[in-house]
Amino acid sequence: MMKETIVLRVDSQKPDLEKIAIAADFIRKGMLVAFPTETVYGLGANALNAEAVLAVFEAKRRPLDNPPIVHVCNMKDVYRLIKEMPPNAEMLMKEFWPGPLTLIFKRSRIVPDVTVAGLDTIAIRMPRHNVALALIEKSCCPISAPSANLAGKPSPTMAKHVLDDLDGRIDAILDAGPTRIGVESTVLDLTVDPPQVLRPGGTPYEELRRVLGRVELNPIAIAEKPIPVERARSPGVKHKHYAPNADMVVVEGDSDAVVSKVKELIRLYDGEGKRVGVLATDETVRRYTTDVVKSLGSRSDLEGAARSLFRLLREFDADGVDIIVAEGVPVEGLGLAVMNRLRKAAGYNIVKV
Ligand code: TXA
Ligand code: MG
Repeated sequence: MMKETIVLRVDSQKPDLEKIAIAADFIRKGMLVAFPTETVYGLGANALNAEAVLAVFEAKRRPLDNPPIVHVCNMKDVYRLIKEMPPNAEMLMKEFWPGPLTLIFKRSRIVPDVTVAGLDTIAIRMPRHNVALALIEKSCCPISAPSANLAGKPSPTMAKHVLDDLDGRIDAILDAGPTRIGVESTVLDLTVDPPQVLRPGGTPYEELRRVLGRVELNPIAIAEKPIPVERARSPGVKHKHYAPNADMVVVEGDSDAVVSKVKELIRLYDGEGKRVGVLATDETVRRYTTDVVKSLGSRSDLEGAARSLFRLLREFDADGVDIIVAEGVPVEGLGLAVMNRLRKAAGYNIVKV
């Protein structure tokens, strides 16, 4: 059923409180509101209202076994959602919240099953964005929010992306312009010892290691091929993800070798009559002559690459390319999150040179 999606434009620093009040009223009534965070836009519903959370899954066409993240505006709101506070959790929250770090806890009884997809754990984070924080506070409830895209599509970093996927399927969107980080939060499982990164994201692994000492990267976080479902602790990882409509291949290795291989692939696909798009970097972008070439930014600015990645994947689709040939970037800092998304978007179609 189609509904009218109301667009509420707000300032990202000092949001108009009347518009926040309208959006919060929607949340309290069990309706669906997309809102910006520092990472990507989320599709929010009252996390304690099972029907509203179910409607989020339906709007996104998201498989019911993949739980969303619950967003809070305050550290103290975590206690009633969890069964016990694991060691290091309070220290991590003080160090990284508000910010792009999602923590996995054992969940409490007040959390509806659908909110956690029937698991006995819950993913919680406090976003670093004035609009998100104001919305959660005014709604007076924790807000369950997966990324505000149709399941399988790249996450939205602008309100336009949300509307392209969900216009007519949600009640409102708070539009505060492009998001700052561009990849989703890092998901850290605190129910295992040592803690494990299930999804690399906006909080670099190096930062977690500095603060925690002992922390592991789950194999799926650095996977170069699909991981068997039983080893994938984070439910989301087994589903198709971040995929543009175009096919995609990632070329990884030293810069010069990568450029040669990308050129070779362009010739190959051209010869097959395909429209080819290249995802390059500032250092290499001028070395390609095919008509659709986009740059992720400098190889030495991985934060910039993270910020542009999902927008560029969507732009390739708008350009109607059949295949995207993407250069890999170094797997350090936010580069790990970028490569995790690129490899998944390519369905692990990776060429190493
Ligand atoms: O930055 C973000 O995290 C964005 C913004 C909106 O906050 N949200 C986001 O949500 O990316 P979503 O639903 O697209 O991704 C949530 C991830 C999925 O990979 C899911 O499997 C994992 O978190 N997750 C959620 N609950 C979990 C749990 N109890 N145990 C393990 N993984 C969980
Ligand atoms: Mg998502």
